[in-house]
Amino acid sequence: MSSISPSDTQRLFFALWPHDDMRQQLAAVVKAGERWGGRAVATENLHMTLVFLGSITQAQRAFLEQQAERLTLSSFTLWLDHLGHWPKPQVLWLGVPEVPRPLLDLVEALNRAVADCGLRPDDRPYAPHLTLRRKVAKGPRNESIAPLEWSVHDFALVESNTLSSGVEYRVLRTWPLQQASGA
Ligand code: 2AM
Repeated sequence: MSSISPSDTQRLFFALWPHDDMRQQLAAVVKAGERWGGRAVATENLHMTLVFLGSITQAQRAFLEQQAERLTLSSFTLWLDHLGHWPKPQVLWLGVPEVPRPLLDLVEALNRAVADCGLRPDDRPYAPHLTLRRKVAKGPRNESIAPLEWSVHDFALVESNTLSSGVEYRVLRTWPLQQASGA
C-alpha cells in the first residue's frame, strides 16, 4: 500500500508577488508601521495571498498549474490606501478600499481549480491584504495612508518553507494576466 510522505508534498499558495519597485514602496509602509510594534515582515516576503493551498501533492500541484495556465483574465490596478489590524492573528495589514472585479475573478477561478482537484477551498469571504507586521497586539482600525498604486500584471505559485531562521518563500512559477482592454 502506498502512502504520501511529507517529503512528497509542498506547502504552496497562489499570490500576487510585488516587483522590486513596489516592494520598496511597501517596505517603507512596513517601516512607518513600526509604531504599532510587533515584528516586520521581511521585505522580500511581502505579498498578497490569493488562495492558500497548504501541503499538497505533486499531482495536485501539476493539476493546479495546468488550470492556472488556462486562465485568460485581465490585469488590474490596486490602490493600497489603508492600514488595518486583526486582533486574533495579531497582524497589521495594508488593504484596498475596493476589490477590483478582475481580482475577484482570479480568486474565484483559482478556488474552482482547488475544488476540482479535491481540495477544500477556504469558505471565508476573500479579504485581500498584505500582512506588514506580525505579533501586533493593538493596531489601527482603518487608518488612511497616501495610496500606493500597484499595477498587477501577473500572479504566482509560491512555496512556503519554515526554517529555523524564519519563513522563506520561493516563487515557483508566474502566469501573466492579459492587458485590460482600453489600458
Ligand atoms: P497572512 O499574510 O494573512 O498570514 C503564506 O502562509 C500566506 O498564506 C500568508 O500570506 C498567509 O496569510 C496565507 N494564509 C492563508 N491561510 C493560511 C493558513 N491557514 N495557514 C497559513 N497561511 C495562510
